[in-house]
Amino acid sequence: MKETTHRIEFGDFQTPLSLAHDVCDLLLKEGVNPDFIVEPTCGLGAFLIAAQEKFPCAQGIYGFELNPSYVAAFREQALPILTKSVNCMTQNFFTVNWAAYLECQTPGKLLILGNLPWVTNSELGQLGSDNLPRKHNFQAHVGLAALTGAANFDISESMLMTLAQALKNRSAHLALLVKTAVARKFLKTVRSQQLAVSTAYLAKIDTKLHFNANVDACLLYIQFVNQPTAQLTAYVVYESLDKTTGKTVVMQDDGVIADWNVYQKFSYALGTSPQKWRSGIKHDAALLMELKRQSDGTFLNGLGEQIEIEQTYLYPMLKGSEVANAKPWTNRWMLVPQQFCGENTAHIESIAPKTWQYLTRHSMVFENRKSRIYRNKPQFSVFGVGDYTFKPWRIAICGMYKKLAFHLLGPTNGKPFVFDDTVYYIAFDKQAEAQRVLACLSSDVGSSVLSSLIFWEDKRPIKTALLNRFDWSLVDKSLSAATEQHVFEFA
Ligand SMILES: C[S@@+](CC[C@H](N)C(=O)[O-])C[C@H]1O[C@@H](n2cnc3c(N)ncnc32)[C@H](O)[C@@H]1O
Repeated sequence: MKETTHRIEFGDFQTPLSLAHDVCDLLLKEGVNPDFIVEPTCGLGAFLIAAQEKFPCAQGIYGFELNPSYVAAFREQALPILTKSVNCMTQNFFTVNWAAYLECQTPGKLLILGNLPWVTNSELGQLGSDNLPRKHNFQAHVGLAALTGAANFDISESMLMTLAQALKNRSAHLALLVKTAVARKFLKTVRSQQLAVSTAYLAKIDTKLHFNANVDACLLYIQFVNQPTAQLTAYVVYESLDKTTGKTVVMQDDGVIADWNVYQKFSYALGTSPQKWRSGIKHDAALLMELKRQSDGTFLNGLGEQIEIEQTYLYPMLKGSEVANAKPWTNRWMLVPQQFCGENTAHIESIAPKTWQYLTRHSMVFENRKSRIYRNKPQFSVFGVGDYTFKPWRIAICGMYKKLAFHLLGPTNGKPFVFDDTVYYIAFDKQAEAQRVLACLSSDVGSSVLSSLIFWEDKRPIKTALLNRFDWSLVDKSLSAATEQHVFEFA
């Protein structure tokens, strides 16, 4: 197996000893003083080494690791120089009965310490790996979730849940390095499952520096308590292990607030957006539907075919990256065969016969689209079309980028812009109205209140659900109109 594949499959990012020391120092500062320390996926054992140095009073330090060569390396290189006995064994996390093990082997103050694998079940699926929890309906991912991809979960998420169940009704500290999104998701579950936790925080780590990786990861610290009434409703996300600056996250029934202090100041502007935010068009046939106009008036599709079709169903198109980076339009067009979802497309044949010919020539591509949303729908159906698609003015933002930048776009070539489905937008008939709304969205109040709801480490941090909560009509009407530079300039 290639080393990189192995690294991916086992989410293998070995912690440098210096970072393991820093984590232990932080725990010491907070008065964590365990009798027993368990490292559930200990790798080469950096946390085991740091723990035996920093917690000299611990009676037992136990490490588990799937990869026998890591265990062998630890036994050969680290064990002989350790002053204290540390037990390290080859063991698959998913075959351990954690509740029984922790109860028997760790009868005292317990610290679960370490760094869990950084890999998702779908990455494992692509590798054909079976490094997965035993088949169980983890987080009840069924039906729609499986359809939308929500059934994708991190292996560490499943490990955290297993450990949390094993820690029910006992006091223990947990300090594990995990992806930040996993930590947040897990704390949401802690709240929804009413697990008894008195304190929790996240402290971000510089993964580029420590792991040479571009992953948003953190130390997840949780104090489990043996008091069923203790319920977690808030936690702080610190910028680093020194815990000097941080934001308070508050978990509520109707959503999670990313920055409570800012939210409290500006939440008067929350309610229901006067206009529903829409996603760009989903068609799953980019090679055919997205066309580049050539200087001779013909179009080039993604298959390299030069085609001649009518303008009737063509709209100027911007991709999410172009919207996010305010790139000039590159004469890309999208074929939009429907005016509204579910519209019968048969009439295209008489209105635009060349377009119909083009579509029918490639009908197999449309029929073979995998997503179930296209089943039992008219031929060449797309999603994300309605009257809003065809209004001339729009304010757009790309959901995938880590910046809150709204752009105002007017029509070009007499037609409104359309987008791929990573873009969210609201549409207007009149430029002046669009400019007024852009001013509200870009105002201090708009960007602050929206930022207070955004978790930037998410893959798609900006979502329609949060955009739909900003009621711009509540923002001071006297806001000056948007300046010209907000309007897209085209070369
Ligand atoms: C992110 S690395 C961290 C290693 C170690 N905890 C550290 O801090 O250096 C994750 C480790 O989990 C191990 N691992 C992956 N799947 C495992 C499983 N099912 N059971 C036990 N260990 C596993 C990998 O081999 C790897 O050593």
